This record gives sequence, C-alpha cells and structure tokens, in this order.
Amino acid sequence: MNKKGFIFDLDGVIVDTAKYHFLAWKALAEELQIPFTIEDNERLKGVSRLQSFEIILEIGNRTMTDEEKEFYCTKKNNLYKTYLEKLEKDEVLPGVRTFLEAAKTAGIPTALGSASKNAVFILEKLDLMDLLDAIIDGTSVSAAKPDPEVFLKGAEALSLAPEDCIVFEDSFAGIEAAHRGCMKAIGVGSKENLPEADAWITGFDGLMPEDILKMC
Ligand code: BG6
Ligand code: MG
Repeated sequence: MNKKGFIFDLDGVIVDTAKYHFLAWKALAEELQIPFTIEDNERLKGVSRLQSFEIILEIGNRTMTDEEKEFYCTKKNNLYKTYLEKLEKDEVLPGVRTFLEAAKTAGIPTALGSASKNAVFILEKLDLMDLLDAIIDGTSVSAAKPDPEVFLKGAEALSLAPEDCIVFEDSFAGIEAAHRGCMKAIGVGSKENLPEADAWITGFDGLMPEDILKMC
C-alpha cells in the first residue's frame, strides 16, 4: 500500500469556529435588516467569505456593488476576529490534538486544506502549527471549494499523489472538492448531512490514524 496522507479542513473539523462565523454574520445581517437563521448558516460552511455574503444578500433579496460587498466582508471579518482573539487552546475539537500527534509519530504527512484567510491566526492561537506539515488556506488558492484546488495543492505540498490523500471535511462543498480531486473524503458529521462522503466520523475523540487507514 502506498504511503497515505491526511488533509484537514479547519472550521468545523479542527475547531468549532462556525459559531463565531454565525455570530458575526448574524450581526451584519441584522444591521442590513436581512433575516438570517442558524439553519441558513449551514449554507455558508466551506464557502468563501465573499460567497457567504452573497448567499446572505440572496436570502435578503438584495444586491450590492463589489465595493459595498468588500466593505461588509471586511466589517464581518473584523467582528469575527474579535471572537478569534479570545480563542482558547481547549477549543480545539475533542481528540484532534491527540490524532495529529499520533499521525506525526506514525510518520503520516498532514496538511490543512481550508478556505479561511484566518487559518494561520487560528492555528497559532490553538498551538497546532507544529502538528501540520503544510498549510493551504484561503490566501493560497484562487478557486473555492467545491473546486479541488485547495486539496490538490495540499497533496502536492505533501509530495503525495491525490489518490493517496484522505480528506476530513464537514461541508458538502468540501466533500465534493475532495472527490473532484480524486481523494477519499471522510465526513465529519452524519451520513444524513454528508451523504456523498466515503465514510463518516462524529469527531476525533478516541480515534487513531490506523482506524482511518482501515476505513479507506
Ligand atoms: C471556511 C468556513 O472554512 O472558511 C466558511 O467554513 C468561511 O464558513 C470560510 O466563510 C472563509 O473564512 P474566513 O476566515 O477567510 O472568512
Ligand atoms: Mg468546515
């Protein structure tokens, strides 16, 4: 069997930042008098900042110029970053740190494959930078998921063939991106929410890299 590598999405896989994204978008939506619910927030998972705002505008049946969109995206990010400033190391999702440490000990290459432009800031806050061999984030890709670019760049950075990479994702767009990149996709969540995944885990608590290798 060829050497395998792991590529991790960030938001919702390594850390539960979705709640902070929601709070920041919700505040902005209220300012713009657009109704925005926690269910609507599901549509923003895995989607870039600008695309997220465009979905909110669509919900509100509103249009804006590119300049206005940029203004509000920056405003949202500034608010989101006030939550990130307070992020604590124990907000890493259960089992993730142990899983990454075990992968490192086992010599399994690991990369981040995230749409977030705040990824490095978050990983530094959580003290996880040393546990990832490569970081591919929103600052290094031009096409958002479901385009496979972020994961293909991850495979390349790990010097692995895409077929030998296993992606961990909590979003529909991310699962599609992994498949379009010819990678296996482990859904972090339920089969019901992520029907296209190859296998599912509820999280990393109690999970070891060999458990994943046996699944794939
Ligand atoms: C993804 C999140 O990881 O990153 C999305 O799932 C978010 O909800 C996207 O919009 C971009 O993040 P950021 O931090 O660059 O605004
Ligand atoms: Mg995610």
